[in-house]
Amino acid sequence: MAKQRTVYVCTDCGNETSNWAGRCPKCGSWNTLKEITLDAYQKGSRARSGSSREDRKLPKKITELDVTEEIRFSTGISEFDRVLGGGAVEGSLVLVGGAPGIGKSTILLQMCGKIGSEKTILYVTGEESERQLKLRADRLGVNSSSVFVLAETDINSVLSNLDTTEPDILIIDSIQTISDYDNDSAPGSVTQVKECTMRIMRVAKERGLTVFIVGHINKEGSLAGPKVLEHMVDCVLYFEGEQNTSFRLLRAAKNRFGSTNEIGVFEMNNTGLSSVDNPSEMLLSGRPDDTPGTCVTCIMEGTRPLLAEIQALLTPGGYNASRRCNGLDYNRAAMLLAVVEKRGGLSVIGCDTYINVIGGLTLDEPSADLATVLAICSSYLERPLGTDLAAIGEVGLSGEIRSVSAVNQRLSEIARLGFKRCVIPAHIKGEIKKIPGLETIPVKNVYEAIRTVLKKPKTE
Ligand code: TYD
Ligand code: MG
Repeated sequence: MAKQRTVYVCTDCGNETSNWAGRCPKCGSWNTLKEITLDAYQKGSRARSGSSREDRKLPKKITELDVTEEIRFSTGISEFDRVLGGGAVEGSLVLVGGAPGIGKSTILLQMCGKIGSEKTILYVTGEESERQLKLRADRLGVNSSSVFVLAETDINSVLSNLDTTEPDILIIDSIQTISDYDNDSAPGSVTQVKECTMRIMRVAKERGLTVFIVGHINKEGSLAGPKVLEHMVDCVLYFEGEQNTSFRLLRAAKNRFGSTNEIGVFEMNNTGLSSVDNPSEMLLSGRPDDTPGTCVTCIMEGTRPLLAEIQALLTPGGYNASRRCNGLDYNRAAMLLAVVEKRGGLSVIGCDTYINVIGGLTLDEPSADLATVLAICSSYLERPLGTDLAAIGEVGLSGEIRSVSAVNQRLSEIARLGFKRCVIPAHIKGEIKKIPGLETIPVKNVYEAIRTVLKKPKTE
């Protein structure tokens, strides 16, 4: 009889060790190592390795490999298709991650409504009852007879139901609620999530089934149970956005069939998620007129330019100046404040500083630096920048304004949204194409930017 192998798996990070310890050697959590026997896993590998010599696959020359183009189908939701790289690939495994309540179930149910008449879909819900799902489906107008619903948490039952319904698409909502009752670790644990995904993956590849798996994100921002899921699936999509705003971004973190640069933009309203074709317009709506402390910049989300409004509020601080940053890296903001103090000649360090990016957007591009600096200075000096001004440029530690990528694309978007002036890094002046109606203001450094845009009274 083959020897049973036992490993210890950390329920927090998924790390496997051969010896038990009170503390996980990888993530340092206490009492998280659980014993699992690799019986089932071994059976599978034995079966595979037991194949006779003749059956074994032989390596082929790369030039002789079959290149059948992947077959894609539309999900019926344009922004969803865009993130997937032009529609979902048949037979692929897609992981849709995000915080609870962000809209994962909603988008997948909406997809059922759009393509339910062409494809047979099995929607497995381990979180909601049939009644709850039906109420939501009615609200979203999903009424196709080829969408099947299974309120089930047992993986064996899910897989056996594939024979009865024979779906083209399988939706698992969510992977953390699905478990194998023969495996004695707790539902939602790393072992269960990993094992269930592995089984789904095997069946899906055999049948050419397209699978969408919902995964919740834990507080640290990783997919709960794990990174182990990310490498198994073909495509990992994350939903981002603030719960209390209606703006949602769907971002590809991994895509074996397309680029990971694209984002999908949605708005959540009472009829579910709707694709936003013109996100900049939405992000700028409700912008205050001539008030100090606000500046617009243009970031690139993949190939798409997106305008974002940065607001800053500076008030005289006490001994311990406090700082809050929303949507911008705290350390980056601290650096920009130091640059303004040292190179811009304004004493902003001692102020209580609040910085906020409108719409729940997170800016991690240095091209937003100049707009952040101008918003900070505008609030400090109590002088508005004017609603017709935008700024792009990275700020260096010596206060110099450095260049950004795709500058012409950004400027066209800025002009399209009705802006009349844009502050740009001086040394890219030669690269830019003239856009009618948009005046560019080249600046070399932070000092010059503040003097040109904020100190000089407007001439008109
Ligand atoms: P849901 O898709 O259930 O989130 P997840 O599956 O990611 O946990 O989204 C739930 C939220 O969406 C909930 O707060 C209510 C809101 N919502 C709407 O605003 N309009 C709608 O039409 C639907 C279906 C949900
Ligand atoms: Mg849900």
